[in-house]
Amino acid sequence: MRVLGIETSCDDTGAAIYDSADGLLAHALASQVELHKPYGGVVPELAARDHLRVLLPLIDHLIHDPRNRGVTPDAIAYTAGPGLAGALLVGASLGMSLARSWNVPAIGVHHMEGHLLAPMLEDNPPDAPMLALLVSGGHTMLVDVESIGAYRILGQSLDDAAGEAFDKTAKLLGLGYPGGPAVAAAAEEGVAMRFSLPRPMTNRAGLDFSFSGLKTQTRTIANQHTLNRQTIADLALAFEVAVVETLVIKCQRALRQTDRTRLVVSGGVGANARLRRRLREAAAELGVEVFYPRPALCTDNGAMIAYTGYVRLAHQLSAHQLQSNYLNKNQGANKTSGAFEIYPRWSLEEIE
Ligand code: KG4
Ligand code: ZN
Repeated sequence: MRVLGIETSCDDTGAAIYDSADGLLAHALASQVELHKPYGGVVPELAARDHLRVLLPLIDHLIHDPRNRGVTPDAIAYTAGPGLAGALLVGASLGMSLARSWNVPAIGVHHMEGHLLAPMLEDNPPDAPMLALLVSGGHTMLVDVESIGAYRILGQSLDDAAGEAFDKTAKLLGLGYPGGPAVAAAAEEGVAMRFSLPRPMTNRAGLDFSFSGLKTQTRTIANQHTLNRQTIADLALAFEVAVVETLVIKCQRALRQTDRTRLVVSGGVGANARLRRRLREAAAELGVEVFYPRPALCTDNGAMIAYTGYVRLAHQLSAHQLQSNYLNKNQGANKTSGAFEIYPRWSLEEIE
């Protein structure tokens, strides 16, 4: 089965073609970084308009990729949520329209399940059961994965997601947008231990996270100093280390609690080199194997959506009741009804 995946939940327009026999055939991404840069964050209306502008040419480019050779996909998967409503609508409506005109099924998938399954696109993919650390701009969560589709959230951020904290800290340090890579780059020149920030919520039981205090403490220190290049680097390093060590402590705790022997790490912050290195060390101490997608598949992309759509279609599993009604009603005729829904707020635990 060959699936076209469409991702438009936030500020990246992603598309990809996944083939169940040949793997990931092609994927492409149009970043909106330059568009949102002047505003220091994502402007939802601009995001939706830009998806509308670039999505169709991007898909056309992929369909004619030498590895796909103009072949019409057997199915289409699009991100149905969670995400920005206007941005989601662009991917969902174009996905449904193409499915109608090609007379193939379409399925709406959960963005975070996409992140969770992204490591499956790499060599030596992990098998469930496993523990997942999903760290993106919108979410930070530890998920116990009993099997694909059976997810239990063990802990999540009570305020800012890890990526969001990176973005806000970068902004206050004048490092620009998106913040994660900018903070990581500045931190490379930082002097260790000049500043020290706490590891929030690690001295009490539980697996929830809170990152907004870290950002505030960074601001307090920043206000007490002249922000020259070295001080910015030292603060960036202290912040990055605090976030990474907090994530490491919570992962170790969750691994001990669940006895899982496999850990998957995904989402934009999963591209962070320090986090990848430290989690690998910490997991090794517990005899746990860690699985990451390559950095380009950690951040938002169409490949993870194509793959998730494939897994769900192959098992006739819709991600949502409404969409499952369409799937069941139309599966005999192998076509879609044309109606679709998006779910801007949608918990991973609510997946069918
Ligand atoms: O998964 P993603 O692309 O989009 C969401 O679903 O939110 O994650 C984007 C987030 C942004 O907050 C960005 O600053 C962060 O991931 N990020 C990083 C790195 N690369 C991206 N954070 C830390 N280090 C990185 N190298
Ligand atoms: Zn994401």
